[in-house]
Amino acid sequence: MKILIEQGKIVESRADAAVLFCFEDDLLSDAVWASLGESSRMLIRRMIDGGDVKGKDKEIHVIYLPESSAIGRIILVGLGKKKEADLERVRGAFALAAGRARSLKLRSIAISPEWCGSGAEAEVVAAAAVEGIELGLYQFTPFKTEKREDIHEIEELQIWCGKKRFLEEVGKAAKEAAIVAEAVLFARNLVSMPSNELTPRDMASEALDIATKRKSIRVDILDENKMKELGMNALLGVTRGSREEARFIIMEYRGIRGKEPPIVLIGKGLTFDSGGISLKPAENMEEMKTDMAGGAAVMGTVMAAADLKLPLHIVGLIPATENMPGGRAYKPGDILKTLSGLTVEVISTDAEGRLILADALYYAQSYKPAAMIDVATLTGACIVALGESVIGMMGTDEKLKQRLKTASEATGEKLWELPLWTEYYEAIKSDIADLKNVGGRPAGTITAGAFLSKFAGDYPWAHLDIAGPAWVKKDRPYIPKGASGVGVRLLIQMLKSWERME
Ligand code: BES
Ligand code: ZN
Ligand code: ZN
Repeated sequence: MKILIEQGKIVESRADAAVLFCFEDDLLSDAVWASLGESSRMLIRRMIDGGDVKGKDKEIHVIYLPESSAIGRIILVGLGKKKEADLERVRGAFALAAGRARSLKLRSIAISPEWCGSGAEAEVVAAAAVEGIELGLYQFTPFKTEKREDIHEIEELQIWCGKKRFLEEVGKAAKEAAIVAEAVLFARNLVSMPSNELTPRDMASEALDIATKRKSIRVDILDENKMKELGMNALLGVTRGSREEARFIIMEYRGIRGKEPPIVLIGKGLTFDSGGISLKPAENMEEMKTDMAGGAAVMGTVMAAADLKLPLHIVGLIPATENMPGGRAYKPGDILKTLSGLTVEVISTDAEGRLILADALYYAQSYKPAAMIDVATLTGACIVALGESVIGMMGTDEKLKQRLKTASEATGEKLWELPLWTEYYEAIKSDIADLKNVGGRPAGTITAGAFLSKFAGDYPWAHLDIAGPAWVKKDRPYIPKGASGVGVRLLIQMLKSWERME
């Protein structure tokens, strides 16, 4: 979607529709009235007087304007009570409006961030609009071959600023939001892709493709021989049952200050998790194509960091493999010697994520990182504990966790911290190896986190379990059901404010 920044009143736009907001306790704010022309005011006044407009959250009206007016229609969206209309609701409202515009097969929409009436700064509203609209309109269509003519995309978003002084800031915020949205959509596309179309080798090609387009990113791909040479036996153990070769993807972005110790992001890249010999039940197994959502989020984050030219040094590590029950598959009872030297007794081959992450986390230490953060669809237990829309966070460094919490509040990607008390480590002790890969049913998310912490050394480390929010089962305001791309916005927000929080 093309984004245009214009100066003037929204009524002057020649867009097919203009989006305006109304509130339960302030139906049309003075600001919105002021942005309208005489004829639109009259029409809306009649709707209000008739009692049609209540301003409730998610209420939507399409108002056709007379032919003399430059804009075709007004899409009026309710935001509920003024004090409840936070940014998250604003993103959702823009998505709702854009969704209606798309179903009306419109080509262009116009918005006016200064006049949205939510009280937020114009550039903040502009960013929320771009996010809400781009993310809310996402559709994954490459495999639909019938009725392709019905697939409609809005081509143009016009952002109108009344005051000249807002132009630059609004333009910058919109551009940055578009970069982040593009990265989220990239991650969603990878996650939506079925495992026969996105193998570990395909993930590696995607990473190479990102680097080809950006000078500031370098990509290195380690194949299985290289992994053997290094001693990544936990990752190799998981991969044994599959006919697809594993890849260890390394993406390195250097911005200004690119010589400083990096922030290392590690993403679980299971292109398919069948459970292996500890086979998963058939029901919903197709969802396990999404078990590389952490890897996709890391790839999207590195890509956006480069496009935003963040003044940082960032490394993305993605161990990519399938987990399959082939004849050479690793088996319950097997003992694997991880890259760190620690040995792990395999209790369940379905607890494979922590095994591949163990090697990746240990590898991350070779960068002497400023911080390391792993992102993984790690445990079903996290969905039991926190629900489908919340990230489970654990970690060893208060400051790093605080950075993530702050970013979470700004982006609406909710997270909640779980403790890593010493008691939990009892559960992952093995009788015959250093560790076992399953700590039983109680606190399954935490014992998985405790297991990972054993491979993070003394570096500031945090773990994000995205098993819940990675795949959305019911439409949310600006996340259509399916792949959410969760993690990208959170991590980018944290990275954008990295220096400010030093
Ligand atoms: N990929 C799954 C976790 C998962 C489950 C993600 C549901 C998204 C939705 C992971 O590899 C797994 O299978 N974990 C096991 C661990 C258990 C064997 C200790 C689980 O959660 O059941
Ligand atoms: Zn599994
Ligand atoms: Zn898994």
